[in-house]
Amino acid sequence: MRILVTGGAGYVGSVSVERLVEAGHRVTVLDDFSTGHRDSMPSGVEVIEGSFADAAVIGNALERSRTEAVLHCAAKSLVGESIEDPAAYYRINVSGGITMLDAMRRLGIGRIVFSSTAAVYGVPESSPIDERAPLRPINPYGETKRTFEGAMAWYGSAYGLRSASLRYFNVAGASATNGERHDPETHLIPNALSAVAGGPPLTLFGDDYPTPDGTPIRDYIHVMDLADAHMAALEATAPGDQRTETPLICNLGSGGGFSVKQVLSAIEAVVGMPVPHSIGARRIGDPPVLVATIDRAADVLGWRPNRSTLEAMIGSAWAWRQRRGGDEVPRS
Ligand SMILES: NC(=O)c1ccc[n+]([C@@H]2O[C@H](COP(=O)([O-])OP(=O)(O)OC[C@H]3O[C@@H](n4cnc5c(N)ncnc54)[C@H](O)[C@@H]3O)[C@@H](O)[C@H]2O)c1
Repeated sequence: MRILVTGGAGYVGSVSVERLVEAGHRVTVLDDFSTGHRDSMPSGVEVIEGSFADAAVIGNALERSRTEAVLHCAAKSLVGESIEDPAAYYRINVSGGITMLDAMRRLGIGRIVFSSTAAVYGVPESSPIDERAPLRPINPYGETKRTFEGAMAWYGSAYGLRSASLRYFNVAGASATNGERHDPETHLIPNALSAVAGGPPLTLFGDDYPTPDGTPIRDYIHVMDLADAHMAALEATAPGDQRTETPLICNLGSGGGFSVKQVLSAIEAVVGMPVPHSIGARRIGDPPVLVATIDRAADVLGWRPNRSTLEAMIGSAWAWRQRRGGDEVPRS
């Protein structure tokens, strides 16, 4: 299949690009390199530099690559930044997304898989969270993802768009060649590994939650399991596919959770060194537990995570870090 991956030079996108190429698909990447990395692309992938939110750029990219389906990973995705500058989030994630859907419509491209997020649920009333839980995002990031999900659903009923919204929980781990390199990095595992390797010590946001060890529990999914889910979802958007409703909406996690302290213990076991850390204040809006039910992805896509141990996620992330060399400024 000919697939356009937006944001293919980012963390999630690059690992999925590797997987799609390996499976024999013809992949074109559209990326503006605002947070992505040029050295993350495997050979044989055409890379177009530009924004999916620009009508001329996305139109040309779709036409030139003769795209049959889009994997839409590109987005603005920092919670704090979205609260400070919601306009940028609506402009890119919503308005830019509509620009892309309209270009697809004009060219008769009717298949899309979207990188959505657990942030669409906000603070859930109960756990684990299934896809029917109310959507009550508590920041513009989650709100703009929810809005774009809604747009895809309406484009489905009116124009026949076949879409899959995959609501990722916490993505972790690395492939042999690509891993997590955000700047700023807001995720626990890369920040903890950086602290082990001599970067700034980690701050835990609260240890007085109503959980067994007092730290929040989150559901982690290996980035390579996510790439497998993308492949299955792309196939499920085929017009003749009878298995799936459209829009297809699936949580993607491991279906279990680990506390922050469990993650730190696992890191110490994998790396053989303690994680320098201190305990800070809770962050506003951090629920004690965020864990997914993943039955729908299993039932509809036949997908199950294969790498859901902390050892697999941390081990691959650490190995990738070691191969490329860390980039932290040593503590003075
Ligand atoms: N990493 C996670 O834990 C996580 C969790 C839930 C959802 N998500 C979603 O998954 C997607 C990928 O996340 P990631 O962690 O790989 O982020 P990332 O920042 O590493 O990758 C995003 C990529 O999109 C590109 N990009 C951004 N705006 C663009 C634009 N307007 N046009 C073209 N390219 C653009 C960036 O340059 C980058 O290569 C995002 O949509 C994010 O919201 C990620």
